[in-house]
Parts: sequence; structure tokens; C-alpha cells
Amino acid sequence: MSLTYTYIGHGTHALSVSGHRLLIDPFINGNPATTLTADDVQCDFILITHGHGDHVGDAVAIAQRTGAPCIANASICKWLEAKGAPKTQNLYFGGWQKFLFGRAKMTIAFHGSSLPDGTDGGNPGGYLIESNGKERIYFAGDTALFGDMALIGEEGLDLAVLPIGDHYTMGPDDALRAVKLLNPKHVVPTHYNTWPVVAQDGDAWGQRVTSETKSTPHVLLPGQSIDL
Ligand code: NI
Ligand code: MN
Repeated sequence: MSLTYTYIGHGTHALSVSGHRLLIDPFINGNPATTLTADDVQCDFILITHGHGDHVGDAVAIAQRTGAPCIANASICKWLEAKGAPKTQNLYFGGWQKFLFGRAKMTIAFHGSSLPDGTDGGNPGGYLIESNGKERIYFAGDTALFGDMALIGEEGLDLAVLPIGDHYTMGPDDALRAVKLLNPKHVVPTHYNTWPVVAQDGDAWGQRVTSETKSTPHVLLPGQSIDL
């Protein structure tokens, strides 16, 4: 197995799978949780869960510099192309698509998806990523709790990356219920402490995961990584 997850901060993540570098929701410039700039990051693929500015972020600039394709829903792909993204690949809910790193499937999310200029960004989503070595990683994106997380959990998850910030997404209580539905081997809390409105105690949440579920929590500071 060769899989490294890095919490860049807020809802921004990097995943290295079998030598391929994925960047998920590349909000770098203006992200209070990271000291990186959009010029620093290297990637081979950019995945976007929904249209909000704190998720689309610097996708176009990074795609132009690196040549990485942007993977998103069709509405967001169209918008990214209009803004100058060199390559896009759209996904629809429920269908696997193959990539060099393995395959990816867009999962449902309950949230909004308007793009920074007010354009409709289609439906918000999350991603289930399966490496060539069959490791499965679930990025929930921004979402409320939903019962069909149990179906995603049936896929067998090595890692789940969940929002716990409350206000815009699941808070700590619902994110704990999500862990019970998803039953991942490992779980990382995200999308919190970026701004006062999403202030949460990640360590306290991790302790609840340990005592109330079978999953192993990894409460990472921005910039920290785990190898699975
Ligand atoms: Ni959002
Ligand atoms: Mn967000």
C-alpha cells in the first residue's frame, strides 16, 4: 500500500495514491488554515466537490500551471473551462470513472453549489476514490448527515474525511453519527477552526470517535499527513 493523506486545511486535501498526486478542493490563497500559496502546490489531478469559493478556490490557476485536469460535475467543469482550465473531466453521481490513480465515483452531498460569480454549480457532491491497490477513501465534501452514508460504508472504507465544523455542514454530533454509518478504518475531521463560525474541539471529537466507534481518528493540524 502506498497512500498518503495530507490535510492542507479547511476543506482542502492532498492525497498521494500509488505515486499520483491528487488535490481536493484547492482553496489555498486566502485560506486562513494554510501558509501555502497556490504557486507552491504540485498535483496531477484536481478534484472539486462543489462550487463554493472555499472549494473551487485556486483550481484554474493551479490547473494552468501544472496541466492537471479538473474533475468535477458538468456545471463546474463548464465554468472552469470558461475561466481557462486546460482540461476537465466531468463525473455524475454513482458512476465510477477510471483514472491513472485508480477510479473515482461522485457521491451525494446535501449542501449548496453556487460558484463564486453566482453561476449555478449544479449539485454538490463528495468523492469515493479507489486506488489501484483497492484502498478506498471517502471525501464527504460539505454536507449534512444523511442515512445513505451507510451505503457508502458498505463499500469498505480505509479512510473517511469528514466535515465537523457545524453551521455550514455536519457538526461534531452528526459527524460522529456519520462515522457509525460509514464505519471507516480511519477518519479525519476537517472543515473546522478556519473561522470562528466553525470553531470546534477536534481532539474532543477524536476522543469520542475512539470511545464510541470502531474507527481510528487522526486529528491533524493543517499541513500534517498520515500514511495508510
Ligand atoms: Ni460549501
Ligand atoms: Mn465549505
